[in-house]
Amino acid sequence: MKVQKNMIVITGGVGGIGQACARAFKNQPIIITDYLQEKVDETVEILSEEGFDVSGIACDITDKNDIDKLIEYVADKGSLKTLIHTAGISGAVKNLKKVYTIDLIATELLVDAFYKLAVKDSAAILISSMMAHTVPANKEYDEALTNPQAPESFDIVSRFVNNDSDMMYNFAKRGVQLLTHKNADKWGGKGARIVSVSPGVIETPMALKAAEEHPDHMEKIRQATPLKRNGKPEDIADVVYFLASDAARFITSTDILVDGGVVHNIKKMG
Ligand SMILES: NC(=O)c1ccc[n+]([C@@H]2O[C@H](COP(=O)([O-])OP(=O)(O)OC[C@H]3O[C@@H](n4cnc5c(N)ncnc54)[C@H](O)[C@@H]3O)[C@@H](O)[C@H]2O)c1
Repeated sequence: MKVQKNMIVITGGVGGIGQACARAFKNQPIIITDYLQEKVDETVEILSEEGFDVSGIACDITDKNDIDKLIEYVADKGSLKTLIHTAGISGAVKNLKKVYTIDLIATELLVDAFYKLAVKDSAAILISSMMAHTVPANKEYDEALTNPQAPESFDIVSRFVNNDSDMMYNFAKRGVQLLTHKNADKWGGKGARIVSVSPGVIETPMALKAAEEHPDHMEKIRQATPLKRNGKPEDIADVVYFLASDAARFITSTDILVDGGVVHNIKKMG
């Protein structure tokens, strides 16, 4: 097998933002991963036909054995340039534990596993959400969000979310941002970076599902957006491309908000 350099690994590679991210990397080897092998294969075929250098493997990001297989698959192919972690579920999934596990615990599993592959000038880019910016800092739940694998973590956070899966999503995504701070020194020790990106409303299957559930709310959000439109997956992919590049070489341990300015207005509305 050809040993490749500067590989871009995209979780949620079948999804709206994941696919757009893949398309941003025209001349670099890409590995996509997602929940179902069949869907991964379909996406690999589509992207290959479009001229991308892409391969893929299925991985349930909540399953440590699957993550080990993914790491082995990547390591066999060559060296890591960027992990782009887009896999996630929205609060429309009315199961608080599932939201917490997929959106936050699995993020930490991936960050820990990919640390082994991190090298100088590589990066991890984690997709958070603008809704994380509506959750204020708080010593008690921030400690739990920073340590999502601790047995008591979910119960502590649950006390603050009023049994609401959308609220749990917002908290889990705050946790994703906190993981960048937690890991920045460790990754920095290898000359590698770790950042998060917080999308606003981006027109992907995930957002369209939310729009079906709360049409009035979604229209209100669009009206409250200074740029008066929802985001496109490419709006996120272009920022991810920049963050993966050496132009972003001094950016780590932070979050980049890409929301058309709306969350500032949402917070004002209360
Ligand atoms: N679309 C938006 O408006 C929006 C806004 C803010 C944040 N985000 C975040 O952006 C990311 C991508 O969202 P999207 O809109 O592209 O959603 P999407 O539903 O199109 O893609 C998400 C992908 O994650 C995969 N996935 C879910 N659970 C998984 C698991 N256990 N193992 C492996 N893969 C799994 C799904 O199969 C899917 O392909 C998510 O983390 C989401 O929370 C999206």
